[in-house]
Amino acid sequence: MKESILSPTAIIIILVTLLSPDASLGEPRTQIVRLMCGNQREHNSSIFVMNFVDVMENISVQMRTSGFGRAVVGSGPDANYGLAQCYDDLSLSDCVLCYAEMRTILPQCFPNNGGRIFLDGCFMRVQNYSFDQEYAGPIDTAVCDNRTQKSSAFQNSARQAVVQAVSAAPNNNGFARAQVPVSRTNESAYVLANCWRTLSASSCRACLQNASASILGCLPWSEGRVLNTGCFVRYSETNFLNPIPRNGSSRGKVIGIVVSVASAVLVLIVGAVIGFYIWNHKTIEKKRKGSSDAEKLVRTLHDSSLNFKYSTLEKATASFDEANKLGQGGFGTVYKGVLQDGREIAVKRLFYNNKHRAGDFYNEVNIISSVEHKNLVRLLGCSCSGPESLLVYEFLPNKSLDLFIFDPSKGKALNWEKRYEIIIGTAEGLVCLHENTNTRIIHRDIKASNILLDSRLRAKIADFGLARTFQADKSHISTAIAGTLGYMAPEYLAHGQLTEKADVYSFGVLLLEIVTGRQNNRSKEAEYSESLISIVSSKVFAILSNFFS
Ligand SMILES: *[C@@H]1O[C@H](CO)[C@@H](O)[C@H](O)[C@H]1NC(C)=O
Ligand SMILES: *[C@@H]1O[C@H](CO)[C@@H](O)[C@H](O)[C@H]1NC(C)=O
Ligand SMILES: *[C@@H]1O[C@H](CO)[C@@H](O)[C@H](O)[C@H]1NC(C)=O
Ligand SMILES: *[C@@H]1O[C@H](CO)[C@@H](O)[C@H](O)[C@H]1NC(C)=O
Ligand SMILES: *[C@@H]1O[C@H](CO)[C@@H](O)[C@H](O)[C@H]1NC(C)=O
Ligand SMILES: *[C@@H]1O[C@H](CO)[C@@H](O)[C@H](O)[C@H]1NC(C)=O
Repeated sequence: MKESILSPTAIIIILVTLLSPDASLGEPRTQIVRLMCGNQREHNSSIFVMNFVDVMENISVQMRTSGFGRAVVGSGPDANYGLAQCYDDLSLSDCVLCYAEMRTILPQCFPNNGGRIFLDGCFMRVQNYSFDQEYAGPIDTAVCDNRTQKSSAFQNSARQAVVQAVSAAPNNNGFARAQVPVSRTNESAYVLANCWRTLSASSCRACLQNASASILGCLPWSEGRVLNTGCFVRYSETNFLNPIPRNGSSRGKVIGIVVSVASAVLVLIVGAVIGFYIWNHKTIEKKRKGSSDAEKLVRTLHDSSLNFKYSTLEKATASFDEANKLGQGGFGTVYKGVLQDGREIAVKRLFYNNKHRAGDFYNEVNIISSVEHKNLVRLLGCSCSGPESLLVYEFLPNKSLDLFIFDPSKGKALNWEKRYEIIIGTAEGLVCLHENTNTRIIHRDIKASNILLDSRLRAKIADFGLARTFQADKSHISTAIAGTLGYMAPEYLAHGQLTEKADVYSFGVLLLEIVTGRQNNRSKEAEYSESLISIVSSKVFAILSNFFS
């Protein structure tokens, strides 16, 4: 470990630099104003997810060329109608960045089948019906920033600017901006008004009339925004408007390159850590695996100690008493149990019952339990043929990593050295899964709550192998999308392409979380969450664009 090319301090310095607040870019205005999720659930999640992913992809192509996109995929209750638009003062390249941000956040509404997201630079909405002509609705709202109160002179200017922009926009393709100086100061009030391009001039006017009435309710505060069904209006004391009118020429190309470089740097940081470990441990792994895999498989297949009696486990967990419940995993509920000889175990009671194919299940358990590594949670066995399917794991007293890194007080137990050890341990465990000769195992669900900690706070990956067993069909995309979206590789989300790289991406997200203590994905209830990846990307982007200017 001593000769590591990327020392822990180096990793931390890189990340802290990327996250430092002074390197802000501002132009694409990717700050999220609000995510509004509908309250109807999808009808059939596999159909819905496919349609949703197709809509996002189709709109993505349109955004690059026109800053606006609409798509319809599917029919019936799980049809997806999508609309996205950047406000007209964004350049096309900034628009691409803004859309990319929305795309990572809107899926948080799943499994609800509709949602809207307002960023400061762009808007998107998805529903299962056509909403092109809608411009008003019950959830229309104003969002005021109530930190600074402004003088009556500013308020007068803000009123004037709102009136100017709102009256100009309907006859100007739905977009207008205004700046009105505040008398006897060097300040101004800045306003942007934008209707969605699907609206007629009269619908746009009606939407903006309503918006101007509600936004004035934000005065005397320094900042106000209106999030209407058909339009967006903002006033501010700061000049948030982009000075350059939209163009997608050479500047776009340079930025495109910078963005690619920025993503490459991110991938490199993550790749270097994993690569280093693959390289460092390959020789050792190979030597160990040499001890006849076939022999080992035969041995484990006949090792009946893997099979636990249902009654034994029932007893160990006091009939699955609530008090023994450790948590809820992706595939079932986990209970603590104590065997008669005093050994502590964790018993996972699977949602899915494999009774009808106990033989296959037993085989899978054999294979998974044959994968042994200090950074993988050991599967001790199963109750494969009892009334329900149970898996038996080693018991880890410290539970999972998410309980530490996202908790300011418990997080103190993990100093940088421990965190580094956890990162490395997780990487080693992943390499073991990916290079496993019996069955290459792609985890598919690497995230903080799937990294358990032993008594000495060493990382052990949990739940591996299960995805392969239980999710042979395509529905894994929709299952995974529900809980773990923030960790999923874009190509996996978009196309369901599954390779080891998907785990490496998730590992990268985890790495950022361990270092920053910030969580990448939040529940959809959270009013707004800025994705950790996009913060890091835009910092990298900002740093690199300085080199180009
Ligand atoms: C969802 O649709 C798929 C494809 O048509 C179908 O195979 C599956 O049974 C449906 N699921 C439910 C729960 O209706
Ligand atoms: C987007 O969808 C439209 C039909 O709604 C189709 O004509 C177009 O080819 C699609 N574009 C892409 C890039 O998939
Ligand atoms: C939209 O989805 C909801 C919930 O699944 C369903 O009740 C409704 O009929 C769907 N709307 C359309 C137009 O299909
Ligand atoms: C500003 O709004 C927040 C949230 O609505 C509220 O908690 C806070 O008290 C308000 N502050 C002032 C000065 O009105
Ligand atoms: C406005 O004037 C004040 C003092 O006269 C100055 O401190 C401030 O920097 C000025 N602001 C701008 C935006 O020029
Ligand atoms: C704007 O429209 C919404 C929804 O139709 C309505 O509830 C609200 O009262 C209107 N606001 C104003 C200021 O007209």
